[in-house]
Amino acid sequence: MAVAEAWGGAGPGAGRQAVFSYAGRTARPASQPLPCRIGGFGGVAGLVAYLRREAITHVVDATHPFAAQMSANAVAACEEAGVKLLGYERPEWIARPGDRWIRVADMAAAVAALPEAGARVFLAIGKQHLSAFSTRPGNHYLLRLVDAPVAPLPLADSCVVVARGPFDAAGDEELMRSHAITHVVAKNAGGSGAQAKLVAARALGLPVVMMDRPRIPSRQVRGSVAEVMSWLDHA
Ligand SMILES: NC(=O)c1ccc[n+]([C@@H]2O[C@H](COP(=O)([O-])OP(=O)(O)OC[C@H]3O[C@@H](n4cnc5c(N)ncnc54)[C@H](OP(=O)(O)O)[C@@H]3O)[C@@H](O)[C@H]2O)c1
Repeated sequence: MAVAEAWGGAGPGAGRQAVFSYAGRTARPASQPLPCRIGGFGGVAGLVAYLRREAITHVVDATHPFAAQMSANAVAACEEAGVKLLGYERPEWIARPGDRWIRVADMAAAVAALPEAGARVFLAIGKQHLSAFSTRPGNHYLLRLVDAPVAPLPLADSCVVVARGPFDAAGDEELMRSHAITHVVAKNAGGSGAQAKLVAARALGLPVVMMDRPRIPSRQVRGSVAEVMSWLDHA
């Protein structure tokens, strides 16, 4: 995480105290050059209590663009606790010539955009919302997960590849070829670590069902680490 790197060690944030918060979705989170805490705060009330207990003065919400609940909680809790909040948002991916994107608003629309049966789908959405696709059991699903599943998957006809990004386009093209993929489902996360699948889909001429980002309540936003650090200096 670029913001944490700017903070840790001899980065521009050196000298400031900071803590990095993980939701705890993966078994072995990537290490950070900052002290880390893991797990939910207990909603807005729990986050307000945490901010007060730890005497937090600034919150930088650098979470995944689809972690909308956490971002909304941060807006509400920071307002209640009188703590300054900044959202760090990377730009969305934009379709390029050769892309065959089907843009959809949410998970339900992504499911509806797939064929009823016979498709071989690279479901690049993590593990949390797989059950939505159980209403299209006639398709085959390739899942790429950070951890091997510990419980049975909600998709009967599926295949799991355990891997952690960043990924490269040549590797993703080979993965899609070897699994005879016909459709890709992705969230418009932006950034470089997960865009290889889009480059690979373009090269293979495959349709990508692309989910738009969820709405986040209004807040101050910056788009680069340098701007985040500058906000910390001046806010
Ligand atoms: N969260 C991530 O790091 C992450 C990473 C990659 C992708 N995504 C995608 O985002 C979508 C929603 O994921 P999600 O359920 O993790 O997020 P979410 O729906 O925004 O958050 C659900 C709850 O998880 C806890 N939480 C989330 N992020 C946290 C953090 N950084 N530190 C402490 N607690 C945190 C909070 O619990 P409390 O209310 O108890 O505080 C929050 O209310 C999924 O589609 C997922 O694939 C999320």
